[in-house]
Amino acid sequence: MPESSKSAIITSALPYANGEIHLGHIASTYLPADIFTRFSRLNGREAYHICASDDFGTPILIKAEKEGKTPEEYVALWNRRDYDDFAALGISFDFFYRTSSPENVGFVQYVFTKLRENGHTYEHDIVQFYCEFDDKFLPDRYVVGRCPFCGAENQYSDLCEKCGRVPDEILDPKCAICGRPPVKKHSTHYFFKLSNFSDKLKSWLLSNQNLQPDVKNYVINWIDEGLQEWDITRDLSWGVPIPLPDAKGKVFYGWFDNHLCYISTMTKFMEDKGRDGKKFWNESEIYHFIGKDIVYHHYLFLPAMRLGINEEYKLPDWIPTRGHLMLQNQKISKSRNWYIGLKQFLEAFPADYLRFYMASIVTYSQDDLNFDFDSFAEKINNELIANVGNFVNRALSFTQKAYSGKVPEPGELGGDERIAKGMIESAVRDVGELLSANETDKALKKIMELSTYFNQYFQKKKPWSEKETAGTTLYVAVNAARTLAILLEPFIPFSCEKIWAQLNLQGSVHGQSWQSAAEFAVPAGHQLGKVEPIFKKIEAKEIEQQKAKLGVK
Ligand code: 2FM
Ligand code: ZN
Repeated sequence: MPESSKSAIITSALPYANGEIHLGHIASTYLPADIFTRFSRLNGREAYHICASDDFGTPILIKAEKEGKTPEEYVALWNRRDYDDFAALGISFDFFYRTSSPENVGFVQYVFTKLRENGHTYEHDIVQFYCEFDDKFLPDRYVVGRCPFCGAENQYSDLCEKCGRVPDEILDPKCAICGRPPVKKHSTHYFFKLSNFSDKLKSWLLSNQNLQPDVKNYVINWIDEGLQEWDITRDLSWGVPIPLPDAKGKVFYGWFDNHLCYISTMTKFMEDKGRDGKKFWNESEIYHFIGKDIVYHHYLFLPAMRLGINEEYKLPDWIPTRGHLMLQNQKISKSRNWYIGLKQFLEAFPADYLRFYMASIVTYSQDDLNFDFDSFAEKINNELIANVGNFVNRALSFTQKAYSGKVPEPGELGGDERIAKGMIESAVRDVGELLSANETDKALKKIMELSTYFNQYFQKKKPWSEKETAGTTLYVAVNAARTLAILLEPFIPFSCEKIWAQLNLQGSVHGQSWQSAAEFAVPAGHQLGKVEPIFKKIEAKEIEQQKAKLGVK
């Protein structure tokens, strides 16, 4: 397996601190990142998954005002809530911080100062949209109009959701609050000279072999079409203050500060452990997990800013980028209330059911995927439960019944057993390779094939009637259950804890070594724990209830 001895820093896109985490977030970003992190830990790497709430920006300020809270109070509530929701799904962050932390504020100001010293910024008097009716400057999301690149209507002025580009100036602008055409007002803003980096960005993209080729190609096209300078300041009170005396009342744009929080958060995490954060950053392999809507920011702004401070902090090695989740074949939309909150979902179904289903449908590509309640129930009942649940339960409960839970002494291992051992060894290797390459769904499929194989093995060896070989069969089957518990840990960690407890093995399943999954490490004579079914079938009526909630048949 292509093992990297380097430590790994894994980040997931930072959720805005103004709304709940929903299934769409999970599929593209947090679950793939968590699976990768858990695998890396089992595989013996020093790996940390870090994240933070994205606290700044106009929408957050306005929402806080509406609720009669200070923005600090408001974002603190969402920070906590998001963290709790993630934890309920088993997303195992090593550190979940916030973009409004003093460390991030200081770091953002430091980076700006460096960029300015290096000649990568300039001041420019801009004419900004202003709504006289609402008496507000209208940054970003507060202006909607037609995208100048692709002509899509009703796009935000800071990002066209249709073509993924960031328009210089939106056409036919309207105030997003009241719909009236805004007026223009003067204001001095700071700009980042993104075009200074066109060549360097291109050669970085071309030389980095880990980036997904299709994403890379369209980002290179954007560069070839010419990069526009980037307005990094806003006339707003809620954000990182610009560290210049004549910039009172101005803050940095959220996309200037948020990705720097990957670095400031990781550095704080390390320094709290008494280690050198910068050194660790630069010695590690860096993975930024994102959804495809934020490609522009992560493939251009983020690397350009690191280049602009002379790569004091290295550029990403990987930016695993995935498509969007659809819900029952329709685009998820919070404003149309077409989404399912993570918290609500986990009140109805175990976390592992969602993890298993999502992991089996999410590909390592920009393709969109679809959450469908019927296929969810089918996957859980017919694959997770009928395959993995069935095999593990049969192996353990038969040992319980026929041998009082004591793993029997095997006879000489025959041809079937040698094949079985070979199957386990190649699965451990292949699944490891697929997970290293971020091919999460393919890795899960391989594990399911291994489980299918062991169901067939058990059926063929008939330990209930073939008394002579029963001991050998059960010895192998119990060991295969242990293998499955380790291989499935990144996918369904809560269920693997249960299997581990039923196997009555020492330590935690989360702390095992990936390679050891290839061994028959449960010795003859070992006493199993209490054996019971690990999963509960999803009933048709549960699915009907969920669909009724959404208003679908
Ligand atoms: O698109 C979003 O939801 C942003 N809050 C993601 C930020 S990721 C970053 F920090 F780079
Ligand atoms: Zn208005």
